[in-house]
Amino acid sequence: MIAAVPSSFMTRVLSGIQPTGDIHLGNFLGALRQWAIDQHLHDSFYCAVDLHAVTVQQDPVELRSKTLETMATLVSVGLDPEVCTLFVQSHVPYHTELSWLLECTVSFGELRRMTQFKDKSAKQGDGGQEHVSAGLFTYPALMAADILIYDADRVPVGDDQRQHLELTRDVAERFNSRYGQTFVLPEAAIPKIAARVMDLQEPTNKMSKSSESPMGTVGIFEDTNSIAKKFKRAITDSENQVRFDFDAKPGVSNLLSILGAATDRDPASLADEYDQYGPLKNDTAEAIIDALEPVQNRRAELLADPAELDRIIARGAEKASEVAAITVQRAKDAMGFLPGG
Ligand code: TRP
Repeated sequence: MIAAVPSSFMTRVLSGIQPTGDIHLGNFLGALRQWAIDQHLHDSFYCAVDLHAVTVQQDPVELRSKTLETMATLVSVGLDPEVCTLFVQSHVPYHTELSWLLECTVSFGELRRMTQFKDKSAKQGDGGQEHVSAGLFTYPALMAADILIYDADRVPVGDDQRQHLELTRDVAERFNSRYGQTFVLPEAAIPKIAARVMDLQEPTNKMSKSSESPMGTVGIFEDTNSIAKKFKRAITDSENQVRFDFDAKPGVSNLLSILGAATDRDPASLADEYDQYGPLKNDTAEAIIDALEPVQNRRAELLADPAELDRIIARGAEKASEVAAITVQRAKDAMGFLPGG
């Protein structure tokens, strides 16, 4: 028998997902499927980042139900609470404690340069909604805390989070040079050939949780008929030629990209196998329905046993807290806080 690798020698991985909106095909193919693979290769931590969600105002009833749903989804896509550590961010209050220490390490200027903050705050301003919370501004310090508190080596994220990861490294380095070696410097793990999953109706936009075109977004728990219908009605073009070229043919290329991601094939070579849009749409729908079937079945099992989900969530908080408590104490000691608190 091969002995298990002790976790202290394994790469530590951490990622988070916001519990807002419905989880769709883009999240599944782009991130969650990879998380489910990574959990067997690395010591993995995954969380629903509810504290990040409240940087914009949330309806309390909705936040609660979306957080629960997100956790159910993470389990359904195959994250095994016995294999990885699966938790709700706010259940581990050490995150906010470390976040404060990091807010005092990061500079105002660094936070002001974050493009996500610039974009989001500009959008809120435009909509006549003047309230831009201070939390939206300090969001990257909390994200850095999420990562550094678990000594994560790798952080699987989309390209839009690259800048936050660089900031996390800068903050960790500054802290270490001011106060002595405390944090591990994490690397962003950005998939090289990210499955591009665009809106089926507006294929130049990313499929998004907040999309205004329900026909363009496929939720991972949608029923089979509705998924099939959405692919059948997906926007293509009038050229009637199957080619993988996102600039010239975004709709067709999106279908190829989704089919490729679902079947582990190269989208460009898949294009050679089709000369009509109809069969491409059908095969893509079928591949997605097949990939989602086990996820949907697991979800049904979980919904039938809500106590099981509660147990998983409580266990995750406990496992995560054990690790987080140690790191925060290390950081506080390094900064000179009086011991014994
Ligand atoms: N900011 C990330 C996003 O919007 C979510 C997130 C919060 C995260 N904390 C994290 C991702 C820590 C990776 C690691 O997608």
